Amino acid sequence: METERLILRPLTLDDCDAVYKWVSDEDVTRYMVYNTYTSKEQVVCWLKSLEEDDDYLFGFVRKGTDDLIGCGSIGPHNGDRERWGFGYNLRKDQWGNGYATEAAKAMIRFAQKEFGITKFASSHVEQNRASGHVMEKCGLHFVRYGQFQKLDGTCKMRSMEYEGELDLQIV
Ligand SMILES: CC(C)(COP(=O)(O)OP(=O)(O)OC[C@H]1O[C@@H](n2cnc3c(N)ncnc32)[C@H](O)[C@@H]1OP(=O)(O)O)[C@@H](O)C(=O)NCCC(=O)NCCS
Repeated sequence: METERLILRPLTLDDCDAVYKWVSDEDVTRYMVYNTYTSKEQVVCWLKSLEEDDDYLFGFVRKGTDDLIGCGSIGPHNGDRERWGFGYNLRKDQWGNGYATEAAKAMIRFAQKEFGITKFASSHVEQNRASGHVMEKCGLHFVRYGQFQKLDGTCKMRSMEYEGELDLQIV
């Protein structure tokens, strides 16, 4: 997929070094469900596991470069096939340029066009306001507080959950 400034494409094993740059950065992983990666072998395992994943995962590459700056995914939200959830993370030196919003909107359009999905949801740790901003700019609104925890059950924190009903005209 293509946006004004980005190409969204699947990740491959060749992306290991680029991915490691953000998954090994505690400032990036602080509010993500995965723990900070400490070796490139862990990235290889993760990249290999993607084939089994139900979500659609996209790497974000700056157009006109080979620079893979982050990735995100979209897919059925907690098993709900009618409401899809999405998420994203970017290398720190690329924050604040509007890339997450641009990529999230592209993933939403993908779900709309390819699968006719109109209901969307996402959530972020309460302190992670930048992520909430991205959700709002995609047309979602805050609906309730929830609970965040990492995949290993650690780091329990309050989360903010967002939902939105979006048609192709909105995003
Ligand atoms: C969250 C994240 C994806 C945002 O990426 P980004 O490309 O910088 O986001 P955008 O530039 O599209 O939008 C961020 C918005 O939040 C705003 N923002 C940034 N920091 C903020 C803060 N501390 N408080 C409030 N708003 C903030 C920005 O000004 C921008 O809004 P604007 O366009 O109205 O000015 C990025 O910071 C990141 O990768 N963080 C680590 C991983 C992560 O937390 N992912 C989300 C998990 S839910």
